[in-house]
Amino acid sequence: MSQDTNKLPSVSLHHYGNLEDGTEVSLATVKNANGIELDIISYGGIITRMMVPDADGKPGDIVLGLDTLEEYVASNPYFGALIGRYGNRIAKGKFTIEGKSYQLDTNDGENHLHGGVQGFDKKNWGMEPFVTETSAGVVMTLTSEDGDQGYPGKLETRVTYELTNDNELDMRFEAATDKATIVNLTQHSYFNLAGDGDILGLELMIPADRFTPVDKGLIPTGELKPVEDGPFDFRQAKTIGQDIDTENEQLARGLGYDHNYILKDEANDELVLAAKVTEPTSGRVLEVLTVEPAVQFYSGNFLDGTLQGKGKVFEHRSGFCLEPQHSPDSPNQPGFPSTTLLPGSQYETRIVYRFSTVE
Ligand code: BGC
Repeated sequence: MSQDTNKLPSVSLHHYGNLEDGTEVSLATVKNANGIELDIISYGGIITRMMVPDADGKPGDIVLGLDTLEEYVASNPYFGALIGRYGNRIAKGKFTIEGKSYQLDTNDGENHLHGGVQGFDKKNWGMEPFVTETSAGVVMTLTSEDGDQGYPGKLETRVTYELTNDNELDMRFEAATDKATIVNLTQHSYFNLAGDGDILGLELMIPADRFTPVDKGLIPTGELKPVEDGPFDFRQAKTIGQDIDTENEQLARGLGYDHNYILKDEANDELVLAAKVTEPTSGRVLEVLTVEPAVQFYSGNFLDGTLQGKGKVFEHRSGFCLEPQHSPDSPNQPGFPSTTLLPGSQYETRIVYRFSTVE
């Protein structure tokens, strides 16, 4: 991806649609100088399109997405969305903070998933465009009232999507509350780096030596299990498909990979590599970096061919997600880094998608 100095980063805003109550939903098209182009809508902060050049310089859309606002409202399995207030699962939707117990929506069997029925993926965010000499993007803002989906505290959230000329989508998440609460924000793009077909031939590397085994409801048992000598070991790059059908209780529970990998023992602000994915035919490479202590690797197991978009049918395992985050059910797992946010302190996290091609 060579830099064309005649081209400057840019962002333009367009009308995307209206919600049932008339609320206007906007779409931002963000471009860098090297031919990367993103569409982001204010509804859910969803990245609906991600055009990234392949090794021959030919751009292709590398994310799964739907065609209309109505479809995003009716049946989005979190394609491209900002997730909050709590990415991933909380057992039975229950947690206790400062001696007070809270009950969240249970929208995934008996558990709470991705912020509830009306999570941040289903809210219309404020969206402000910006351009710098070397980047362009949007600042997304959302106020979630005290009690929203059962969560305590009024939460003010801000997410900056910044596409740089270094071919990175740099995402910075901030939040502040007026009552003790829990927060675990993330980004939920489903990638298909070839643009089509299943994802089993992609080479994946995750530099984690432990993961969190889960129960039948995909809630971590609390154990941090070494990946060594098993299908969960991605420390040396291997194809996603290599071991996915191994007979293994954990793979059976997730119908494939749907597990949390531990990147560090304690939350801190050091940006680390969470995963590297290489697609051999297009030559596209995606690296995911984060300051988060863990990353969920989900191999699109619940996609079953019922959803369509962009002229494609989203078959089983036609997209994968790499969602940096604190581990599922952390509020009920004393051994996991805390997800508590107190009034007066600022929640901050960062995720970077770095795009390149094989040498
Ligand atoms: C979870 C999956 C879930 C999917 C929904 C992922 O983050 O790990 O279990 O089915 O989101 O799209």
